[in-house]
Amino acid sequence: MSDREIMEESLVALGDRYEGLAEELFATLIASRPQYAAAFINPEAARERMTGETLEAMVGLAASEWWVDGAVTSFVDLHRNYADFDAGDYEAWILMTIAAIERRAGSDWPAGASAAWARQADALNAIVARELAGHAARAARKRLAEPAGTTATD
Ligand code: HEM
Repeated sequence: MSDREIMEESLVALGDRYEGLAEELFATLIASRPQYAAAFINPEAARERMTGETLEAMVGLAASEWWVDGAVTSFVDLHRNYADFDAGDYEAWILMTIAAIERRAGSDWPAGASAAWARQADALNAIVARELAGHAARAARKRLAEPAGTTATD
């Protein structure tokens, strides 16, 4: 079975235990990173989208969907408006998302699903890291191009 098939099967197995997942994940995220609580202006809306889009991005990667790369580029870019998140912040969120669905699915979690999600988490983290590195490199170039005494804001 492909990663995509097994991941989809695991989401079906999760069923209505998806309910409340975003709320739980958000609480876990803020407990581990309280410094970011203030960055959330509308946490109820953001947590649902963050949870859904994180899972969709990994299923999309497993299916080699064309849109995933652009979607990751946009959300990493968007997040730079909120705070200075690093690759470890994204990695922690992605891993806690997978751990939560696995725990919620309990004995219905299909064999092999953890490995499939872990492979796609690695792929998603790699794109996030590439984007963050790209931003850092562009910011450094901009600073070098600026006359002395001015400060880059990007
Ligand atoms: C794969 C990982 C992630 C995805 C797909 C994602 C997705 C999103 C999306 C789509 C929004 C927009 C919500 C809206 O406008 O309604 C959002 C907002 C936000 N995200 Fe994420 N996110 C991810 C990881 C993270 C992480 C790791 C953090 C912090 C540690 C974070 C912090 C925020 C904040 C502060 C907002 C603004 C919410 C607000 O205005 O209330 N995100 N995220």
